[in-house]
Amino acid sequence: MAAVGTVRPSVERQGAPWRDFVHTGPDTLAGRYLRTFWHPVYLAKDLAPGRAKPIHIMGEDFTLYRGETGAPHIVAFRCAHRGTQLSTGWVEGDEIRCFYHGWKYDAGGQCVEQPAEPEPFCGRIKIRGYPTEQYLGLIFAYLGDSPAPPLTRYPEFESDDEVFEETLSDLWPCNYFQRIENIPDLSHVPFTHFQLGRSVPRVEVRETEYGVDATGYHLNGRIDHVHYQMPNVTRFVVGARDSAETSDRDRIKWKVPVDDEHCLDFAVSWVHVSGDGVAKYRERQAERAAQESAFRPIEELGEEVLSSKARVQDMLDHPNATNIQDYMTMIGQGSIVDRGIEHLGRPDVGVTLIRRIWERELRAFAEGRHLKNWTESQVVPPVEGE
Ligand code: FES
Ligand SMILES: [Fe+2]
Repeated sequence: MAAVGTVRPSVERQGAPWRDFVHTGPDTLAGRYLRTFWHPVYLAKDLAPGRAKPIHIMGEDFTLYRGETGAPHIVAFRCAHRGTQLSTGWVEGDEIRCFYHGWKYDAGGQCVEQPAEPEPFCGRIKIRGYPTEQYLGLIFAYLGDSPAPPLTRYPEFESDDEVFEETLSDLWPCNYFQRIENIPDLSHVPFTHFQLGRSVPRVEVRETEYGVDATGYHLNGRIDHVHYQMPNVTRFVVGARDSAETSDRDRIKWKVPVDDEHCLDFAVSWVHVSGDGVAKYRERQAERAAQESAFRPIEELGEEVLSSKARVQDMLDHPNATNIQDYMTMIGQGSIVDRGIEHLGRPDVGVTLIRRIWERELRAFAEGRHLKNWTESQVVPPVEGE
C-alpha cells in the first residue's frame, strides 16, 4: 500500500484532508488513494503500433506508447538526460528512444542505451515505468506504487460469440467527483431527462461489497437501479438499440480525473447479438455511426444551452440528448462544485452515502488502517439516463 506523504497546504486549510475528494494530484490524499486502483487512460483503437502519445491523468503527465509488438506501455513524461518530451521519440520494438540525443528506455523505464556516451552509465538511469494492460478495447494503467494489484476482470464481457466492443471516451470540463455523485442521484432523472417522464422516484441506497446500490421506486411500480463500484466505476443496463440484439445492454463506465477540473468518461457496452445477426448488426452499427457523426458535439451544444443561445428542449432528436442534459447540470455546477452552498435533503441519500464512504476510506488510508477490499458489481435491471 502506498505511504501517505505531505498534504497540500490549501487542502489542510479546508479541513481534514480525508474530506477532500476532489483534488487528485500526486501529493494529495485522494490522489494517492486513487493511484492504488487501475484506471482506463486511452482508447485502444486510437493507438497504433509504433506510436507514442503524451497523456495527462490525475494532474500528471506520462508517455503512452504501443510497442511494435502491439503491447501498450506507459513511462515517465520526460527523458532523464535533459528533460525533453519522450512522446516525440522513436518506438523501437517495445522500447522508446528519445528524439533529442537518442537515449533509449525499456518498458519498465530502465535506460538501455546512451549512444553518444563514450562510457555509458545506463545502469544508473531509470525513469518510472507503469504496469499497463489492454482490456475490453481500453488501455488500463496502474499509476501508483508497487506492487500493482491484479486488473479487475469482467469475464461476462469476454465472450467470443457476441459483439461487445463499443468503447467511448468523452472529456468533461468538471471535477470527476461531480460525475461520481451523479451516479446514485436518481431523483435528477425526471427533471434533467424530462423526456423520459415526470415520475419522481423514492430513492433508497445501501453500501455493498462493491460500493453503493441505488434504487429508485416509482408509484407506477417501475424500479430504476444503478451500481456504483468504488472508486470511480458505474455499472448498469440500458435497452437494446437494434433489432438484432437479443437482450438489454450491459454497460460499464469509468470516470477518470485528467486534472482537478477535467475528467474522462470511458464506456464499454456489451451488446448481445448472436449468429446471423452479427453481420447485420455491424452493418447497421456503421450506418448509425455515420448518422451520429452528422450531429454536433455534446460539449458544443451543452455550452450553447448554458449561455442561453439554445434550448435543450429543441435538441431531443440528438442521439445523445441525455448526455447533453447531464453536461448542462454538472458543468452548470461549476468546474468544482462549491459544497458550501449546498442544501442536501432526503433524495440526496446517495450523494451523502458516497461522501461518507470516501471520508471513511481516505481517513483509514491516511492513518494506515485497514481499507475495505471492494469487489466488482454484478449486472442489474435497466435504468434510463445516467
Ligand atoms: S534529452 Fe533525451 S537523450 Fe537528451
Ligand atoms: Fe443524468
